[in-house]
Amino acid sequence: MEVENIFVSGANRGIGLEFVRQFVQLSKPPRFVFATYRDINSIKALENIRDGSKGTQVVLIQMDVGNSEDIERAQKVVQETVGDEGLTLLINNAGVAEYQGFPEITEEDMLFHYSVNTLGPVMLLKALFSLLQKSASRKASGMSVSKAAVLNLSSSLGSISEMTEENPKEWLKVMGYRTSKAALNMAMRVVALTVKDQGVLVVNMCPGWVKTDMGTESADLEASESISAMMKTLSQLDESHHGAFLDRNGKTIHF
Ligand SMILES: NC(=O)c1ccc[n+]([C@@H]2O[C@H](COP(=O)([O-])OP(=O)(O)OC[C@H]3O[C@@H](n4cnc5c(N)ncnc54)[C@H](OP(=O)(O)O)[C@@H]3O)[C@@H](O)[C@H]2O)c1
Repeated sequence: MEVENIFVSGANRGIGLEFVRQFVQLSKPPRFVFATYRDINSIKALENIRDGSKGTQVVLIQMDVGNSEDIERAQKVVQETVGDEGLTLLINNAGVAEYQGFPEITEEDMLFHYSVNTLGPVMLLKALFSLLQKSASRKASGMSVSKAAVLNLSSSLGSISEMTEENPKEWLKVMGYRTSKAALNMAMRVVALTVKDQGVLVVNMCPGWVKTDMGTESADLEASESISAMMKTLSQLDESHHGAFLDRNGKTIHF
């Protein structure tokens, strides 16, 4: 897989950090990886990757996905850096998950998840879309991650059809998270159908249950395993996957 320029939100830890690590290690690595963080005190691991990277220039950008000025500033950095090449891949990764179920759920909790997990990816994509279109316009017809794409980190917990009585009751306690990921799935499906003739592939993917701060140590997968699987799947995507919701191995998840 060859991807020229990549933007990863929430790249200072967890899944985002591992995406940056694995992309710069590719045999044909990207030219630029834009990696975002919020807290300057949390970027040691990212700085290590940046400083050790040979083929890729890793550009660190401070950005809260809930802050429109941050998004605007990030967009300018990308635009000034990539110029006419445009942006090849946006990974909408930043996310939050708190435990709160019904009836304890508060308005604040619901809005918090919606703001970061649904609005954040939509607003970031909106800001970067013209740069993705630029990349798409430079390549042959069809769709691929090497041409222009957005990958949204969703969760099978956001699938309404997969939510059955058999699901562990514990998972009902992440109500705000589940709702925000279901809304993300719908938002990106709307985007996908709206832009289907513009050459920018839009895909939602569940990474599996991954050992990160969010996934906890009890999770099934190491971050390295999950991201390797997603990278393999990414390299195989084409227009038939546009607007789909997939697991890390490329299997369809029903919305
Ligand atoms: N881990 C899993 O099992 C699992 C399963 C399904 C889906 N996912 C999804 O995968 C994505 C990454 O999850 P993860 O497990 O890597 O989570 P994580 O370890 O908790 O990391 C979350 C990342 O998002 C960033 N972030 C949070 N709020 C933000 C905001 N307002 N603006 C910008 N960045 C923000 C965090 O930055 P700070 O360090 O500044 O907080 C951090 O970099 C999420 O979208 C999650 O829903 C994860």
